[in-house]
Amino acid sequence: MEVIIRPDADQAAALTARLIAQEVRLRPNAVLGLATGRTMERVYNHLVRLHQTEGLSFRECRTFNLDEYIGLPPEHSGSFAYYMRRHFFSRVDLRPENAHLPNGLAADLPAECARYEALIRQSGGVDLQLLGIGPDGHIGFNEPLSALRSRTREKALTSSTRQANADAFGGDFQQVPCRAITMGVGTILEAKRCILLATGERKAAIVAQAVEGPITAMVSASALQLHPRCVVIVDEAAAAGLDGADYYRWLFEHEPEWEAFR
Ligand code: GLP
Repeated sequence: MEVIIRPDADQAAALTARLIAQEVRLRPNAVLGLATGRTMERVYNHLVRLHQTEGLSFRECRTFNLDEYIGLPPEHSGSFAYYMRRHFFSRVDLRPENAHLPNGLAADLPAECARYEALIRQSGGVDLQLLGIGPDGHIGFNEPLSALRSRTREKALTSSTRQANADAFGGDFQQVPCRAITMGVGTILEAKRCILLATGERKAAIVAQAVEGPITAMVSASALQLHPRCVVIVDEAAAAGLDGADYYRWLFEHEPEWEAFR
């Protein structure tokens, strides 16, 4: 795992977008794993800008989102399908048929989860997985105690997660669905590369646990310590609890790998 600390949320998101752009330029038919949440809005804005000003094209890409609420139609403004159309899909040249989310309205949910896993496999697997982190350490919707080898499945959401995501439901957490389909921790770990982005002081404590704490099913994001190619990008506020911050800053300034991104 590598940790990169950027001065503020916008620069952290800009670096994330540049790493995604690098992947897409290198591999125009890249399979991208995508995430939702407020943190990611800046990343999508940067990617749209790169599309408009530098001709970054997603025409041959395929995308798989991490998760979707159960019971919401894709037209519902709280659904992740709606979020993705609004912030990314409608603003770039990605083909609609290549953009995948779990179907939270499927009559047979276990079959839908198996179909989603199979589709990811058939596409050759995720090349680059974008991740946020929930206040309880979830990645996707892998709430505490999610098995570290879990696969795409239904998951009940904690009330803290429903509260954290209430903004998209008019601020009323009772309106946030109780269940979701999410890629499993094991599914996520199979991506060839992972980028976790976290910004703001409210993420500082959980970022420190995920990055420097023990690997534990209580903090799903800590499983990323097992991943051979995982970069955690944080702003200074979210880095506040990291013991190794000086070392991480030094590495970013000196490792040749990051020269083009400084
Ligand atoms: C939701 C998503 C997660 C995301 C999290 C963080 O819970 N399922 O994938 O990481 O939101 O959201 P925010 O960026 O709004 O803090």
